[in-house]
Amino acid sequence: MLEPWHFSDSDYIQISVICYLKTVHQPVLIKEVIKYLGPEPSEIVVDGTIGLGGHSQTFLEKTNPHGRLIGIDLDKETLCKAQERLKLLDNTLHLFCDNFVNTGAILEGLGLKTADVIFLDLGVSSYQLDSDIRGFSFLRDGPLDMRMSLSPGTLNAGKVVNQYSSEMLEEVFRNYGEERLARRIARQIVKHREKEPIKTTTQLAQIIKRAIFSGWQRIHPATRVFQALRIEVNKELDNLKDFLARVPEWLSANGRVGIISFHSLEDRLVKTAFRDYHKTGILEIITRKPITPDSVERQENPRSRSAKFRVAVRVIPKGKDIL
Ligand SMILES: C[S@@+](CC[C@H](N)C(=O)[O-])C[C@H]1O[C@@H](n2cnc3c(N)ncnc32)[C@H](O)[C@@H]1O
Repeated sequence: MLEPWHFSDSDYIQISVICYLKTVHQPVLIKEVIKYLGPEPSEIVVDGTIGLGGHSQTFLEKTNPHGRLIGIDLDKETLCKAQERLKLLDNTLHLFCDNFVNTGAILEGLGLKTADVIFLDLGVSSYQLDSDIRGFSFLRDGPLDMRMSLSPGTLNAGKVVNQYSSEMLEEVFRNYGEERLARRIARQIVKHREKEPIKTTTQLAQIIKRAIFSGWQRIHPATRVFQALRIEVNKELDNLKDFLARVPEWLSANGRVGIISFHSLEDRLVKTAFRDYHKTGILEIITRKPITPDSVERQENPRSRSAKFRVAVRVIPKGKDIL
């Protein structure tokens, strides 16, 4: 008779790590990120949005031995997950709970002037999106929070929704969500909150759905408003602008900067900044058109569908010093 099969503890650990990596988080465009950023042994890499460490795991493997990885994230919880995942890898790993706009100060604190690769994978991680208590998703019932950084006193989505005037809400939804029905949705929110405060993600999603009252739509009616609120709460476009204004200073000669964005507002900022630096001979653009996921990746990882990846390299004109 066959013996019943028992998993050993190490089988369980291996299986759960594989399931975790496969289902919970798949780094977007990983092959392309490695191909275009080309991290080499001994190089210094900054992952400004380390998230769950998906891209960084490969950065560490490629920069082995003697490489250094500097991982930054606003979210302490996410950073702990990244640490768990990456701690066994060999290279020197430095993690910072900080904003990527502070990359310069972080490098300086480590006694470094520049990095060879600087990478951003913008937006939220699957861990944040799938959390019931972080309030990023209209598909999960949770408090209206949406903060990436959990520092007390910072703005959250509940404050925006319940305290901004109708005009301010309209502006946020129009500017950051490109929502055509921004005014109608803002007015419906104000009308609702006069009766009772809006506390949860599903409550808000219902209000938006009722305000729009149209038939079939390609995306969920709350998609644009939730994107707009997240951008407002976390000042996402301001952060990206600040980063883009300074990133050449943080790159070594031939240093590469790569950015994955997930909506046109971000991609436009990256495209324009790279083009301006190209014109002034500071960066050379490597990706004339943004790199997007192939059909296999889009199918396997629906969250990758809107990803756009742009890369540029720091050029130093002959006879000149770095900035
Ligand atoms: C899409 S996830 C990154 C996923 C990561 N590349 C991976 O493979 O696991 C984006 C991460 O960036 C972080 N983030 C967003 N804006 C940030 C900022 N201004 N500074 C630092 N981290 C930021 C978020 O908290 C989130 O964890």
